[in-house]
Amino acid sequence: MDIEFVAAAAALSPKTALARLVHEGAALEGALGQAAAASRFTGAKGQTLDILAPAGVDAQRLVLVGVGKADGFDALGVEHGAASAYNAVKASGLTTLRLELPDAAADLAARAALGVRLGAYRFDKYRTKEPADKKPSVVKTQVVAADADAALAAFAPLAALADAVSFTRDLVSEPPNVLYPAEFGRRVKALESLGLEVEILGEPEMMKLGMGSLLGVGQGSIRESQLAVIRWNGAADKKAQPIAFIGKGVCFDTGGISIKPAENMEDMKWDMGGAGAVAGLMHVLAGRKAKVNAVGILGLVENMPDGNAYRPGDVLTSMSGQTIEIINTDAEGRLVLADAVWYCQNRFKPKFMVDLATLTGAIIIALGHDLAGCYSNNEELAGALIAASNTEGEPLWRMPLPAQYDKNIDSMIADMKNTGGRPGGSITAAMFIQRFTNGVPWAHLDIAGTAWKKPSAFPTSPDGATGYGVRLLNRMVAEKYES
Ligand code: BES
Ligand code: MN
Ligand code: ZN
Repeated sequence: MDIEFVAAAAALSPKTALARLVHEGAALEGALGQAAAASRFTGAKGQTLDILAPAGVDAQRLVLVGVGKADGFDALGVEHGAASAYNAVKASGLTTLRLELPDAAADLAARAALGVRLGAYRFDKYRTKEPADKKPSVVKTQVVAADADAALAAFAPLAALADAVSFTRDLVSEPPNVLYPAEFGRRVKALESLGLEVEILGEPEMMKLGMGSLLGVGQGSIRESQLAVIRWNGAADKKAQPIAFIGKGVCFDTGGISIKPAENMEDMKWDMGGAGAVAGLMHVLAGRKAKVNAVGILGLVENMPDGNAYRPGDVLTSMSGQTIEIINTDAEGRLVLADAVWYCQNRFKPKFMVDLATLTGAIIIALGHDLAGCYSNNEELAGALIAASNTEGEPLWRMPLPAQYDKNIDSMIADMKNTGGRPGGSITAAMFIQRFTNGVPWAHLDIAGTAWKKPSAFPTSPDGATGYGVRLLNRMVAEKYES
């Protein structure tokens, strides 16, 4: 999608659809008022009214997009309105969208452009037979801004964000025969062109480090497990203590020997959504040259049933030295994170660590598909995450780490077991990871419900991979941790 910022008076190119974001109850003049009166259009959020060949308007098509009451209308409202406008005309046959906002301030115009960029995302590389008249026709968006240059400048970091979210959505959408650990590693390695430093550790290197927990999960797969270490040193002091992000990257989760039912198993290609979000975060930090030192660590494996697969009953020795009795090979994400988190604090001594993982079905039962669970041993970190999550429209909900549940993962024969049973399943999963944090300030985001969206709740997130996490982490870094 091409984005331009233009003055209100700029001439319209042919094949332009004009979209006007309208507040609920706003007066509409002349023919527009009549058109609205002939329909149920009131300007309520999410409504659209499509007017073909409108009288007195230069464009071939005019869409009124309701954005709700002026009171309480914010930047997220602009994004959603802009994305709804795009959705209303994307397959109209017209090629340009011209957006008129209720307020043409530079920052709002930039957020509108972000909304269109995110809403226009599409993963169609494997669709070879889609008829041309079903494909989106709109390829350019012009956002009307009072000061077009200022809007373009305000858009620069948001364009970097949109690129990063698209990168994450692509990773999450790719089928598991294409995106296995080594291929994920290669795509991350390619980010060096943005100025990131990327190291990829293979199985021999991880064996030397003693990562028996992560390697145990991957041992039933013919695909080699990988650990990606991504660094961005954008702070004035390149040696300053970094902040760190760790992602669960299970490129496919069959459940292993504790195999999952067939129904919906294909969804488990997105069990690398946490790693995808961390990769996207590093992408945007580099893309907008954030003034921070940050580390991203991705634990990349495939969980398969096989003659060589790990079994229920096995005992794995993690890099921390702690031993883990396997009760269920489908509780594999925490095993991957155990070694990735330990490695992270051991090597980088970060200010804090945030891990993201599509970790448990239990978090979906608890919080549904709109909220991700946030567990943390540190109030300041949890507060920063939750504040950022609300501003970016990627909401988090704080979950507890009750000390009395810790014994649920004690084992009779090892230091711990890898599941604590169904009750409080997302909590005991978080408490398992906590045992590998070595007391470093840490937060764990269980994004099993939010990494992928079936019926799309937001116009900025088309069905499929959401890229959840990139925006909220980027915002948190920008607001709290850049020097
Ligand atoms: N990847 C799944 C969690 C998941 C389930 C994500 C559904 C998205 C949708 C995870 O590896 C898993 O299988 N967790 C088990 C844990 C259980 C065996 C203790 C679960 O949640 O059922
Ligand atoms: Mn699993
Ligand atoms: Zn999993």
